[in-house]
Amino acid sequence: MTDRHVFDLTVNGVPRRVEAEPDMPLLYVLRDLMGERETRFGCGDGLCGACTVIVDGRAAEACDLPVSAVAGPVETAASLTGPAGDHPILDALLSRNAGQCGYCLSGIAMRAKAFLEVTPGASRAEIARALDRNLCRCGAHNRILDALEQAAAQMEGTA
Ligand code: FES
Ligand code: FES
Repeated sequence: MTDRHVFDLTVNGVPRRVEAEPDMPLLYVLRDLMGERETRFGCGDGLCGACTVIVDGRAAEACDLPVSAVAGPVETAASLTGPAGDHPILDALLSRNAGQCGYCLSGIAMRAKAFLEVTPGASRAEIARALDRNLCRCGAHNRILDALEQAAAQMEGTA
């Protein structure tokens, strides 16, 4: 059994200290040790994108990232809502009923956020390409893209 170590992470702006084996995936740290259940387990193998979070400004598959390799602040889908209101991505996904079961949406929202923050106003085709690694098993891709196009325009200030 591997030794446990103490890790100091910042999750959604809040400092969090956990004791974990260094090779424990960030996904398990978030869900099982921190109770951050909004990040979803899909394939567990870096293939479906359900577990996507943002680490230091970049999208990352949390199931495939050992906690010891986390370098920088972590953002999960819980960061999309707060006292100041919902982020345009969450607002658009909800107001357009973009999901069906919704299981894929937290990962899609985080990959879209990482992408649109550096590419505001991206086209539908660019957004679709950026989401290439995120599967939606319900086939709700078109509604999701409709919502993300709306969010992109809002983030660019052209909506
Ligand atoms: S659960 Fe992480 S990529 Fe599928
Ligand atoms: S809405 Fe069900 S997996 Fe995407």
